[in-house]
Amino acid sequence: MRRLWMLLLPLLLWGQEDFISHYEYGEMLYANPRGVSCSQCHGKSGEGQIIVEFRDIHGKQALKGSDIRKDSLDDMIKSVNNYHKIMPRYYLTDEEVKAIYDYLQKKNEVYLEEFTESNTTQ
Ligand code: HEC
Repeated sequence: MRRLWMLLLPLLLWGQEDFISHYEYGEMLYANPRGVSCSQCHGKSGEGQIIVEFRDIHGKQALKGSDIRKDSLDDMIKSVNNYHKIMPRYYLTDEEVKAIYDYLQKKNEVYLEEFTESNTTQ
């Protein structure tokens, strides 16, 4: 039994190390993908935020980055590789978008759990 642990322990540690670096990789990409940060428009954790406020003939206006915490990986891959009015097109690989997605999922774990719980009880 002892022997088995000695064999498995490095594997376990390696697995964890790999996961942490995947999270950090996603964090890094979210903060600075191709030079324009997602967080500038979608907030620190993807919750969305006001990009800029201005006044025009209709009065006070605000330009907002949407809440992307509940978006699926597919949504994210599509959005990041498409043209939008405001959001830049990024040309990120699927692996890079997956890292961003996993980062947001992990970072918003509690929020997302509460969301699914309150959804299933109703
Ligand atoms: C300059 C601001 C800006 C930046 C930077 C930006 N976004 Fe967006 N994003 C928007 C806006 C605004 C929308 C709403 C659609 C539109 O009109 O462009 C949007 C839409 C989206 C959507 C579509 C789904 C939804 O709920 O609206 C996803 C997913 C998304 N962004 C993810 C990202 C990720 C990931 C990054 C970084 C790689 C990023 N965005 C960077 C402004 C931005």
